[in-house]
Amino acid sequence: MSDPAGGGGVGGVAAGDGESVSRGAGGRAPFGRASVLCGLGTWVPPYVLTNEELSRLVDTSDEWIRSRTGIGQRHIADPSTATSDLGVEAGGRALKSAGSDRVDAVIVATTTPDRPCPATAPLVAARLGLGTVPAFDVGAVCTGFLYGLAAGAGLIAAQTADRVLVIGAETFSRILDPEDRSGRAIFGDGAGAVVLRAGNPEEPGALSAFDLGSDGNGSDLITVRTGGSRLPYATAGDEADPYFRMSGKAVFRNAVERMAESAHRVLARTGWPGDRPDLVVAHQANLRILHAVADRLGVPREDCFVNIDRVGNTAAASIPLALGDAAQSGALHPGDRVLMTAFGGGLTWGACTLSWPDVEAA
Ligand code: ACO
Repeated sequence: MSDPAGGGGVGGVAAGDGESVSRGAGGRAPFGRASVLCGLGTWVPPYVLTNEELSRLVDTSDEWIRSRTGIGQRHIADPSTATSDLGVEAGGRALKSAGSDRVDAVIVATTTPDRPCPATAPLVAARLGLGTVPAFDVGAVCTGFLYGLAAGAGLIAAQTADRVLVIGAETFSRILDPEDRSGRAIFGDGAGAVVLRAGNPEEPGALSAFDLGSDGNGSDLITVRTGGSRLPYATAGDEADPYFRMSGKAVFRNAVERMAESAHRVLARTGWPGDRPDLVVAHQANLRILHAVADRLGVPREDCFVNIDRVGNTAAASIPLALGDAAQSGALHPGDRVLMTAFGGGLTWGACTLSWPDVEAA
């Protein structure tokens, strides 16, 4: 494959701190190519479930949901729509935005695949007419998109691919307990996607640095207990619980700490003046979490992009959806220094920096 970066570049020397692994602008990549964001697409299913409507289905209120989470509405996929359908819509738009439907790999980050087996990405690739390119899923719950981005950047750095489509897609509404007023208040469905291409680290759109981490000791805090090898449906009996469960308060505390710490590490490696981003595009978990993370980073709250009021928490789709909304609403300008950070089940967390490219979100 060609090497548009001419072999020079940015990328990764290990800088693990014992808890996370940071890679990025501080070192030279072993394979020497940067990954440049060159396409962006989003899609949400048309049906909007407002807080008022939700409060007629479960015991909640617009006032409770807004004051505790900042959410005003969420989009819900109709029963005939699966995660791959959302991924195809967002992925197709990202390819259009990139001006080319040629990619060498497809990565789908999702917690809600169409089926437990096989992965959703090959189906998405086939439906997008991308031929027989490698395609695989990434499972890191709400951090999935950043893990997927890192995997895509790794394929490019290793010269396994010149162009990679990275999609975050979720139909979280499918795994929520109809009686779970907390989960139903928070989560929504949607998808967002980006195209990465091999390029030069100085170009606008080049991913600068990553910080990724996990702590499996907290795996029970965010979980779907039944349906895996630990507790298969066939033998679960009375213990069967097919629904998503989250220990909200513990997750809240962890989310603030992990996102802020990860963001600090990635900013230190990126080396922007004053370690200051122009815009924080964080996983939209809860407005209070976003504010707490901004406060810990010393970033004005208005520099932390918010679309949770309109889409809720869309897990792995959250960051690319927020990037799309930020670009379309004029909150992002070419050259802006963008910090992304996320936290999710696993537990997992991560952060990534880039300078914003001149790209039109589709
Ligand atoms: N409407 C009305 N009352 C509610 C609702 C609701 N929708 N949900 C919960 N309550 C009630 C509870 O029953 C409880 O009542 P009680 O005191 O009488 O028992 C009270 O509100 C407080 O409940 P908590 O769960 O303690 O509420 P909290 O203030 O912690 O908010 C929330 C819950 C919104 C889930 C919050 O904990 C949160 O945002 N957590 C983090 C979510 C997050 O970061 N997720 C990211 C990762 S998600 C992923 O990876 C998929």
